[in-house]
Amino acid sequence: MGMADQASALQREFVEQLLLASDTDAVESLRVEYLGKKGKVTALMADLRLVPPEEKKEAGTVVNNLKNTIQDRLKEKAEELSASGYDRLVEESMPYEPSMLISGELGSFHPVTLVQRMCEEIFRSMGFTIEDYPEIVDDFHCFQALNIPEFHPARDMQDTYYLNNGQVLKTHTSAAQNSIMRKYGSPLRAVFPSRCFRNEAIDASHENTFFQMEGMMIDKDISISNLIYFMKTMLSEVFGRDVVVRLRPGFFPFVEPGFELDIHCLICGGTGCPSCKHSGWVELCPCGMIHPKVLEYGGIDPEENSGFAFGLGLTRLAMMKFGIRDIRVFNSCNLKALSQFVSI
Ligand code: DAH
Repeated sequence: MGMADQASALQREFVEQLLLASDTDAVESLRVEYLGKKGKVTALMADLRLVPPEEKKEAGTVVNNLKNTIQDRLKEKAEELSASGYDRLVEESMPYEPSMLISGELGSFHPVTLVQRMCEEIFRSMGFTIEDYPEIVDDFHCFQALNIPEFHPARDMQDTYYLNNGQVLKTHTSAAQNSIMRKYGSPLRAVFPSRCFRNEAIDASHENTFFQMEGMMIDKDISISNLIYFMKTMLSEVFGRDVVVRLRPGFFPFVEPGFELDIHCLICGGTGCPSCKHSGWVELCPCGMIHPKVLEYGGIDPEENSGFAFGLGLTRLAMMKFGIRDIRVFNSCNLKALSQFVSI
């Protein structure tokens, strides 16, 4: 394995362990395990001397980036834990009381949480910020700012839950695009995960409550090649191997051109099963180049800037990643099923 592969394998392993670290002692042990004198990254640095001179510079940068990333993440996590007062809670207000132990089982993360955090880490390492926006939005942000005017037929694509006050339950994460463009202007790189709601009939592959992660990259001269590059990099990181991908034209009023990015169904390997409706392909990520009007609504000059956007189906991704065949499991509160996924 080359240096770059070793570094990305180490980073993945580290991210998984960091997710599970629940106090500052665990964070410190991770620091020692990776950055200590006998740490894994330290060992990788020592191996740099074996790299041929012409590859040394690049390999050095890769390992250094890894070290910096790990340092930053450890610092953030330690701050997050002390900010939440978790350590103080454990130390001061929860004396050890054996009778409080109801069962010896460890808790676990929801599979969507695991996949979401993994994607956040991947995008963070590619320079994207992670944004959090409300689940209740107004009509302007959910539709009009996305080039979907009031009587546009595209509104029929989504059965929307309207609230009495005229606001809506977010039907898609695209609803935050406008606010994020207004917050940062250009250039920007951001991903924004959220729960979304649509008035759908529920079956093995449809839910009325599901998760998406939207992403946007805007700058001067962003093209479809950038879009393809980021999508491919992300998916191969997520699945830890090359996945078969295809792009089909897709229509969404807020992108031009728009695409549907499909991947080979990882459950049946492309031969056909109920999860992929026997087609062998799973629609995973609609995407496209942001429509000039949408940039304009966001206060960004479309003459000077361009960008791509994508709406990754996190729930669907979790089905693929963990081989879950029925989407209804996610909201079932069935702990037997849901607590199997301790780590990715
Ligand atoms: N918001 C769309 C939906 O949920 C998905 C989508 C399509 C998002 C294309 C995008 C995009 O960012 O470029 O139906």
